[in-house]
Amino acid sequence: MERRPRRNRKTATIRKMVEETKIGVEHLIYPIFLKDGSGIKEEIPSLPNNYRWSIDTLLKEVESCVNLGIMTFDMFPAVDESLKDSIASYSYSEDNFYLKAISKLKQEFPEIVLMSDVAMDPYSSDGHDGLVADGKILNDETLPILNKMALAQAQAGIDIIGPSDMMDGRVAAIRNHLDENGYSEVSIMSYSAKYASAFYGPFRDALNSAPKYGDKKTYQMNPANKREALLEAELDYLEGADMLMVKPALCYLDIIHVLKENFNIPITAYNVSGECAMIYAAAEKGWVNYNHAISEILISMRRAGADAILTYFAKDFATLIKE
Ligand code: PBG
Repeated sequence: MERRPRRNRKTATIRKMVEETKIGVEHLIYPIFLKDGSGIKEEIPSLPNNYRWSIDTLLKEVESCVNLGIMTFDMFPAVDESLKDSIASYSYSEDNFYLKAISKLKQEFPEIVLMSDVAMDPYSSDGHDGLVADGKILNDETLPILNKMALAQAQAGIDIIGPSDMMDGRVAAIRNHLDENGYSEVSIMSYSAKYASAFYGPFRDALNSAPKYGDKKTYQMNPANKREALLEAELDYLEGADMLMVKPALCYLDIIHVLKENFNIPITAYNVSGECAMIYAAAEKGWVNYNHAISEILISMRRAGADAILTYFAKDFATLIKE
């Protein structure tokens, strides 16, 4: 035999030397859930190891993440039902605890990068990402609300805005609105290829944000489609997005790959809550090895082309690679 590929695998040192894909803590973005109040560290039953934090407990948590090298966080608010309405007005209210938390975190940890979510669902009494009328999700009427939400986050000190709503034209609308108000340095990481997925369940539990009726299929993408992802990505690119995201990640590695091949801006992958929950559940039963499984999953996303990965495994993985 002239070709014996096993020779390049014969020792750990050789394997490491010829390793094609690298992953480090610098590639991770940690999604965290926030709740109003103090002293709160509330478990999310369908997402073990993840919690709803109040700002005081979150400051300590962020510090321990920073000590592990995790420097980028994506924050999501769990909003009390009584504050929700059809126009998501709490999202840009001066009293919003989430906006205050952004300012506080940036003040305490100026070196971290904070990302936010722009969509109506955590604040909407309908549980939809856009404005609802007669059971329909309105597109153009939603844009001014997203603009207000994004501007309020920019004013609070956010580094990266993450529009996750899938309305047409939102990236251009938000970009223009931010620029007109003097926030041209705030980045946009667009949820470009966001699919109507079964894997958002634990996230919606964490925020109590599931749609009150219907589903999200008129705005989130059909899992069967790949060329449509290129169209969505192209629009977001042309509208000024700085980074393009694929979500979920695990069932959509081909989409990450095709976006990476076609766009010369960073591509990110969102390893969503249901994907992580599956691993937690299987590991709990002893059916997979947790550390081995999360390492393999995260490297597969990097191999597919993800520059950065949003993952609930961030802290566990950072701990693992530090050991
Ligand atoms: C809000 C939003 C969702 C997620 C991120 N932003 C839920 C949804 O679209 O229903 C899901 C993230 C996850 O499951 O980890 N639009």
